[in-house]
Amino acid sequence: MKRAMLIAGNWKMYKGPSEAQAFCAAFAPPRGVDVVLLPAFPALAATVESGTTVFAQNVHWEDEGAFTGEVSASMLHELGVVGALVGHSERRQLFGETDDGVARRVAHALEAGLHVIACVGETGEERERGQMEEVLRRQLSVLQRHERLAVAYEPVWAIGTGVTATPEQVQAAHAFVKGLVDVPVLYGGSVKPDNAAELLAQPGVDGALVGGASLDVASFTAICETASALRS
Ligand code: PGA
Repeated sequence: MKRAMLIAGNWKMYKGPSEAQAFCAAFAPPRGVDVVLLPAFPALAATVESGTTVFAQNVHWEDEGAFTGEVSASMLHELGVVGALVGHSERRQLFGETDDGVARRVAHALEAGLHVIACVGETGEERERGQMEEVLRRQLSVLQRHERLAVAYEPVWAIGTGVTATPEQVQAAHAFVKGLVDVPVLYGGSVKPDNAAELLAQPGVDGALVGGASLDVASFTAICETASALRS
């Protein structure tokens, strides 16, 4: 039987501890799918307490030090957080994260025993210029296969826009990613209950990184159920 899909809910800068608690109290992940929630730092502890698997939205490359505004893998471990997202396009575009920084964060997190979802993806302009493969190649050049590493292919033009990549675009990008780094590859970018089945059914898609639709219990549950049904 094929390995279960991974559905990760990226809450971004939404939901403090009490909203996180309320979500978890109402959320019953279906069987046959690996579900991960990624709350903002202040809501990590409340989400861990619910018994759900929790990843952070970022992690630093040092264990401690003078790095204002950052958190370390050991701090996350102590809270019961078992993984981290690294290199989300919002981090790259709005907060100046570079491929080099992503490489250091990923390497340290893996070394420290965390799971990592590393994000890659081209902007709309890069796609129009025919540079998708070049961009993915550059972003993936800093990553190596690891049993606790997954990649999320998130075309920047599809994030939070309601526009998803077509199944053909997803399939092609995932095959390209897997050809460079042989790890599970999640699709991210406007995944919703009504498009999840089509996107998740594409060859090379091992799960989804869900933003907006993960904030609502009913829509996130529906996506998790779709993923479970596809692999059962
Ligand atoms: P979206 O976000 O599902 O709201 O497009 C995805 C992401 O940014 O991970």
